[in-house]
Amino acid sequence: MKDIGHLRREYNLNRIDITKIEQDPFALFDNWFKEALAIEDIEANSMILSTVNYNNKPSSRVVLLKEYSNSRFKFYTNYLSKKGKHIEDNAYVALLFYWPKSVRQIRIEGYAQKTSITESNHYFSQRPRESMASAIISKQSHKMEISMNSLITEYNNLLNSNKPLNRPKHWGGYDVIPEYFEFWQGNKGRLHDRFQFTKEDNSTLWQIDQLYP
Ligand SMILES: Cc1cc2nc3c(=O)[nH]c(=O)nc-3n(C[C@H](O)[C@H](O)[C@H](O)COP(=O)(O)O)c2cc1C
Repeated sequence: MKDIGHLRREYNLNRIDITKIEQDPFALFDNWFKEALAIEDIEANSMILSTVNYNNKPSSRVVLLKEYSNSRFKFYTNYLSKKGKHIEDNAYVALLFYWPKSVRQIRIEGYAQKTSITESNHYFSQRPRESMASAIISKQSHKMEISMNSLITEYNNLLNSNKPLNRPKHWGGYDVIPEYFEFWQGNKGRLHDRFQFTKEDNSTLWQIDQLYP
């Protein structure tokens, strides 16, 4: 086995003062996300989505954050995929952003609900035709019963047809409505800065606590 135990990076960044950070986690996310967009090389909007199935078995995969506001985080996918089935059985999900250059991690937990039909239609209509065609023909996460060559032929036929491509019912967005955030900033001597935001059910006030690293 390759020994990677020595792989270690020293972080040496400015300390974050809990009394000076944004008291609203959505505003703090907005700050960190904008900084990540400026600093990270590629796909700062990629995030790990974890779901749990009816049998309590977790599963994680990368998806792209496509929009966020001061109440929710949005991504788009196939509703009949593995993740779609998990969410149907258990709407509680986790999102994870890791930005290596910024030495930052944000953890978000909350409920996923389907994006409105109007909004999913609007987003779909603005995608490149290539993305529309693949969303229409892919039975994401299902075993392929045809060859990849046949699928590519189907894709090319659809792409090059004059047909308008409309959003299929199996494809759309999910809005994640958080009830938990954790902001992590790597720091010197492994004494990292961690801030947790929690809130009571139906409350609009967030409680902020610093956590041991
Ligand atoms: C950088 C990156 C971005 C991705 N973005 C998405 C996305 O926005 N939506 C999506 O459905 N899958 C996306 N995927 C593919 C997923 O990771 C995953 O393979 C797919 O959604 C099937 O997951 P499931 O079988 O758990 O449902 C992306 C993968 C990578 C590596």
